[in-house]
Amino acid sequence: MKKINIGIIGLGRVSQIAYLAQLTKNKRINSISICDTNLELLNKISKKYNISKFYSKYQVMLEKEDLDLIFLIVNRFFAENLAEKILEHKKNFILFSEKPFALSLQKANKLVKLAQKKNKTFFVGYMKRCDNGIRLLKNKINKLNLGRISFVDYNSFDGDSFDKKDKYIKYKFKKISKKKNTSELKFLNTQCHSINLLEYLFGKLSLDHSYVNLAGEGITIFKNNKNIKFVLKNRFNKKTEWYEKIKIFFEKGFIEVDISAPFFRNKATLISYRKYSNRNSTRINLFKKKWCFENQVKNVINYTTIKKNNSKLKLYPELCQAKSCLNEFKLIKKIFA
Ligand SMILES: NC(=O)c1ccc[n+]([C@@H]2O[C@H](COP(=O)([O-])OP(=O)(O)OC[C@H]3O[C@@H](n4cnc5c(N)ncnc54)[C@H](O)[C@@H]3O)[C@@H](O)[C@H]2O)c1
Repeated sequence: MKKINIGIIGLGRVSQIAYLAQLTKNKRINSISICDTNLELLNKISKKYNISKFYSKYQVMLEKEDLDLIFLIVNRFFAENLAEKILEHKKNFILFSEKPFALSLQKANKLVKLAQKKNKTFFVGYMKRCDNGIRLLKNKINKLNLGRISFVDYNSFDGDSFDKKDKYIKYKFKKISKKKNTSELKFLNTQCHSINLLEYLFGKLSLDHSYVNLAGEGITIFKNNKNIKFVLKNRFNKKTEWYEKIKIFFEKGFIEVDISAPFFRNKATLISYRKYSNRNSTRINLFKKKWCFENQVKNVINYTTIKKNNSKLKLYPELCQAKSCLNEFKLIKKIFA
């Protein structure tokens, strides 16, 4: 089986903690090329990981290297324009962008159409779908004899998502974008995860009601095509511990999902359920405790390897294609209209 060549654009904190460390160990990768406009960081990373193909301009990297897969992990304010240039490129490769892959519905639509026109697979990094706890939940949700779902309560209060113990090469953050971080963009940045996860678990959502304040925090109610209501409460908060919990209420009981902070690789999402007739909850144990980012990287690499070798493509439903997350942009636009 032929191994793949990958390129990584953006070597910041997320790239180093959640991607580079694993990609440099993956046996299915033949070569890694890296790119960052911060020359000092580029130099340090190339030395740390012994990577000889390094570029300060992504255009040069695309021309010189024969890449099968590109990871785009730059600041969210620059991602959409870079994605456009990368998708437009004449060479054929798979693009994987961190979320959110665009800052507006209009741009998201444009990028999805461009990917289709250029026949490029375009994945977006919604790693929570690859969490082993979420996988287990998706599998068990209708098998616990709790009856029909009455409604779903989602508390997404953020918190500190990074583990202070994680080591990475520090760099000076350069803000080049003139775009203001509006409350809508802040909501998009954090709640695109929640909406994406709800749609992954329960199907397409429509907006029922929204009580979001000027800061972009509040309560939003969605419904799906079975008329189940989803109450999403959100707050922006970087200071306290991560707090993200979903409670699924059924006719005969409930399931509680305690989602772990994204960058704590050793913390697992916890799932328990209880029947109203019972005083105690039952914990559903995870057999494997693998980090969601690790699972996601593995899936993207496997998908790309299979495609390169013209083998029968296995579709990984956990991997999110840009075309399937356009509804998030539509819903958020409506909330802030
Ligand atoms: N999945 C998640 O839960 C999650 C959480 C946090 C952040 N993110 C996403 O991860 C991405 C990266 O976040 P970060 O905090 O590491 O960002 P950052 O801004 O700290 O680092 C990005 C790096 O990209 C480089 N860069 C910028 N423009 C470039 C260009 N044109 N060519 C090459 N390099 C360029 C910068 O020099 C910097 O080193 C963002 O899209 C963010 O939204 C995802």
